Amino acid sequence: MRVIPFDASLGAEIADIDLASDLDAGTIKKLNDYWAEHLVLCIRGQNLSPQDFIKVGRIFGDPFRQIYGQFNHPDYPEIGLLTHKDSDIAGSGKRKIRGTSWHTDASYFKKPPAGTMLFAITVPNEGGDTEFLSMRAAYKALSEEHKVKLCDLRSIHVYESSRSPRKLIKRSPGQVKEFGEQAKHPIVRTHPKNGQKSIYLNPIRVEKIDGLSRQISDVVLDDLYEHLFQSKFQYRHKWRVGDFLIWDNRGVLHQANDDYDWRNEQRELYRIMVKGERPF
Ligand SMILES: [Fe+2]
Repeated sequence: MRVIPFDASLGAEIADIDLASDLDAGTIKKLNDYWAEHLVLCIRGQNLSPQDFIKVGRIFGDPFRQIYGQFNHPDYPEIGLLTHKDSDIAGSGKRKIRGTSWHTDASYFKKPPAGTMLFAITVPNEGGDTEFLSMRAAYKALSEEHKVKLCDLRSIHVYESSRSPRKLIKRSPGQVKEFGEQAKHPIVRTHPKNGQKSIYLNPIRVEKIDGLSRQISDVVLDDLYEHLFQSKFQYRHKWRVGDFLIWDNRGVLHQANDDYDWRNEQRELYRIMVKGERPF
């Protein structure tokens, strides 16, 4: 197994490993250590059945039934399907590609998913990349004074923030009940494995900073997002069929791109999320 860090502030490719094979405990520990260190791992050229993909999911945590039942794999509810044909079934019914602005997954959960994994089944010839951004590198780049100012702040995460740059798909009443409405999380989040700190914000879900007026909260959030969105913290992933990729929702923002010719080209990925801890 070889580790090839990306030429970016996060991420590494892991080469010379077959995820469908039976991995020993030492290899599994190493993979988890690399994940905590690099936040995004990509392992190319994999051949995974749905059952294999769930088995790989268990290397990194505890996969749970995906949030939007309408997009789940018909036989394996831990696997969600992301496709070029997705639509807002509970809302307008129109085609809607999810995830097309910076976010971290499901941060309105009291315990948001620690990680998300994708496996590329079909990819377009051009476009459809996924971008990642290191909130850990962005935290490190803050001045010491700024870090101190943020250390006790908490933000309120809701399903769809009034500040969200895009409309999210509608949830059915059952989904609202099952997955909850909101949570309060620290703005500086600590990784449970290595103690590294990150900014932890979510442009689509953070409504407000707890205890601040709306006006002051908006100023602080706008300022932090401007800092976060700098290109030096970003990495852009160009998909190949057989790519397995995992990111750490505790320290990474990501966004999809709907810039491919979806009428003539297909894009299908499997997704798994694993349970996470209460942020601290
Ligand atoms: Fe996402």
